Amino acid sequence: MMDTVVSVENLSKKFGDFTAVDRVSFTVRRGEIFGFLGPNGAGKSTTIKMLCGILSPTGGRGEVMGHDIVDEQDSIKRIIGYMSQRFSLYKDLTIIENLKFFGSVYGLEGARLRRAIDRVLELAGIGTRKDLSVTSLPGGIRQRLALGCAILHDPPILFLDEPTSGVDPIMRRNFWDIIYRFSDEGRTVFVTTHYMDEAEHCHRIALIISGELIALDMPSRLKQSIPYSVYNIRVDNFIELFDDISSLRVVEEAAIFGSDIHVLCKKGADIKGELSQLMRRESISRFIVEEISPSLEDVFVTSARKYGL
Ligand SMILES: Nc1ncnc2c1ncn2[C@@H]1O[C@H](COP(=O)(O)OP(=O)(O)OP(=O)(O)O)[C@@H](O)[C@H]1O
Ligand SMILES: [Mg+2]
Repeated sequence: MMDTVVSVENLSKKFGDFTAVDRVSFTVRRGEIFGFLGPNGAGKSTTIKMLCGILSPTGGRGEVMGHDIVDEQDSIKRIIGYMSQRFSLYKDLTIIENLKFFGSVYGLEGARLRRAIDRVLELAGIGTRKDLSVTSLPGGIRQRLALGCAILHDPPILFLDEPTSGVDPIMRRNFWDIIYRFSDEGRTVFVTTHYMDEAEHCHRIALIISGELIALDMPSRLKQSIPYSVYNIRVDNFIELFDDISSLRVVEEAAIFGSDIHVLCKKGADIKGELSQLMRRESISRFIVEEISPSLEDVFVTSARKYGL
């Protein structure tokens, strides 16, 4: 069995003079849920389209399931599942009619098509609604149907481009349950997102900003790797104090988090000392400051700062 299912080296895409994807290299292993995390315009969709044989790169090379992404685009399209950012369903058709249509696109018919549809209806949990037209379905169900259409032919690898954007948190959770079940069967998922909580679900994450891959690791390792410490500050009048705390010399970044303040400081900086001085000046005696573990958002924010975002 092949263990590397995607590999790219110096993959680049220029649109005219503009570089959307800049010499990106990575590999994805079989069975992995691989996340591509980045802000709007980072180059996520452009990368996924190159991997799916929809766009040709202008530089570098890559393979998906052993097929070259330049010379074997048709073979790639046949074996992969792909759910595009603006997925297309036929809105005036029912769930079952959509599935039959997409199944026929993949060359499925007769008993094989029926089995594929039953499997997908079950996996996506949409069987009870199969005769409803797409127009009448809530966004989350449409998304699950789009996912179902993308995996009818039982692909070994699934590419999802921001599959849950615009869907509420509960629906997002349901969607991820399906993705986990798919991956538990030994299949690979490549997913783009700009949701931090969603990225936490991935086995490994590549962080992409302005077309450049700036970090790639397991979520836990990325969090350990940042050269900052994160502190939670609890104080009654946190809103009035926010500006003063943000302006402390040791504070690199501050944000309100519920009714607390989170600050990022360079490792080893004396936040407790500076904060105590500030509180003395303000005659505040009651406050708590404690170090907490960095979140993926902290990783993202500190990485983005280096790129002037
Ligand atoms: N066909 C095109 N012609 C010119 N520029 C393009 C084209 N497609 C994408 N771009 C530009 O390339 C950059 C990357 O676009 P891409 O769609 O890959 O970003 P993204 O990370 O998917 O963003 P989003 O989160 O908004 O979907 C953007 O600046 C975009 O405007
Ligand atoms: Mg996109």
